[in-house]
Amino acid sequence: MNILIIGSGGREHTLAWKIAQSPKTERLFIAPGNAGTATIGTNADLGVNDFEAIGEFVVENNISLVVIGPEDPLVNGIHDFFLGKPELKDIPVIGPVKAGAMLEGSKSFANDFMAKYKIPTAGSLAVTKENIKDGYQFLQNLIPPYVLKADGLAAGKGVVIVESLEEAEDDLGEMLNGKFGEASETVVIEEFLNGIELSVFVLTDGNNYLIFPEAKDYKRAGEGDTGLNTGGMGAVSPVPFANASFLKRVEKKIIRRTISGLKKEGIKYVGFLYFGLMNVKGKPFVVEYNVRMGDPEAQVVIPRINNDLVELLVAAGNGELKRQKLNIDKQAVCAVVLSSGGYPGNYEKGKEIRNLEKVEKSIVFHAGTKAEKKKTITSGGRVLAISSYGTNMKEALETCYESAGIISFEKMFYRKDIGFDLQE
Ligand code: AMP
Ligand code: GLY
Repeated sequence: MNILIIGSGGREHTLAWKIAQSPKTERLFIAPGNAGTATIGTNADLGVNDFEAIGEFVVENNISLVVIGPEDPLVNGIHDFFLGKPELKDIPVIGPVKAGAMLEGSKSFANDFMAKYKIPTAGSLAVTKENIKDGYQFLQNLIPPYVLKADGLAAGKGVVIVESLEEAEDDLGEMLNGKFGEASETVVIEEFLNGIELSVFVLTDGNNYLIFPEAKDYKRAGEGDTGLNTGGMGAVSPVPFANASFLKRVEKKIIRRTISGLKKEGIKYVGFLYFGLMNVKGKPFVVEYNVRMGDPEAQVVIPRINNDLVELLVAAGNGELKRQKLNIDKQAVCAVVLSSGGYPGNYEKGKEIRNLEKVEKSIVFHAGTKAEKKKTITSGGRVLAISSYGTNMKEALETCYESAGIISFEKMFYRKDIGFDLQE
């Protein structure tokens, strides 16, 4: 079958890498893709939110499976667009309809949903200019630090965590006055959850689900989890502290309640669902939902799946996931992200990447790269993710760092301490 993946990051290169291995895959397209995806499929120059153009492309190229990588087109209703067109409605789309994507598209929607279905999460209040006084009151009753979140999508930047009440009150005012544009017209104030984070992923057909391996990502730009928040500077899977009893709790109190809650709401959710969790003294709490795979979590989770991913995705699209069983690789996989100097602030693009072909022990997933003449050049903040297998996390990371040392581009930087907080 012909398959189209929407997106252009490391997650999409990873999905393409895995999908290309399936005997079921005939032609594979990635829109818009990057220099890495171009080596295993065909890049299509389409915007991820240009639904009309995507729809035409799907018909013209006889596509029978569409996999949506990023959240943006999902929140904008790409799946609903397909369902609304007679020529597209029967083509399986992996990624939820807009109503389901609201779990990521609106923090207040997600919090109301969790309260309704008794899913453990932080206590919270949604605030607009109308009830700002309630917001100040709520802040006063919290124990610091204070967590303020823009309600809508803010490219991972909409969360502010501050120590003093005064700062929190100032930030609340600024956010409601457009600090994050429309995304912060509503601000969610949350209780601070003190623990260690990890992420769990499921693939669901709306009724049944498969639990993919868990992962931990490293969001801060600086070593020791310092500096600005990024999309993610590295990831590891499995996560040593996520033992069987913890994961059982996650399934019982979080995954099952979420899937059945979506059903009760009449939302047909097909696709990946990402549970951003906090382990607070052995108990899991939801920090956030994402309606897609993580990036760079996909780069460590997908390589641990031994199944034919196309078979799983088709089963999810057809509501037949019950018949599938995951076969998970026991090895650890870790990823280290190579970034452009300055990221997540300003950075330069167009730098030549050297020695990619010399890496033999790791898989190099491209994110912000472009092919230009015979060269591969940088075109984003996160440029590459180096993923490696190992018998354990330490060994996988050693291989990542050995491979990272081979590659170079001007002003390249990466964190040298991925996994620093985890003991096996
Ligand atoms: P989010 O965009 O909701 O994932 O938030 C970004 C980051 O802020 C998370 O990965 C956490 O590290 C942190 N965070 C968000 N909400 C909370 C919370 N209620 N308590 C503690 N940390 C939080
Ligand atoms: N790495 C975090 C995310 O994909 O949202």
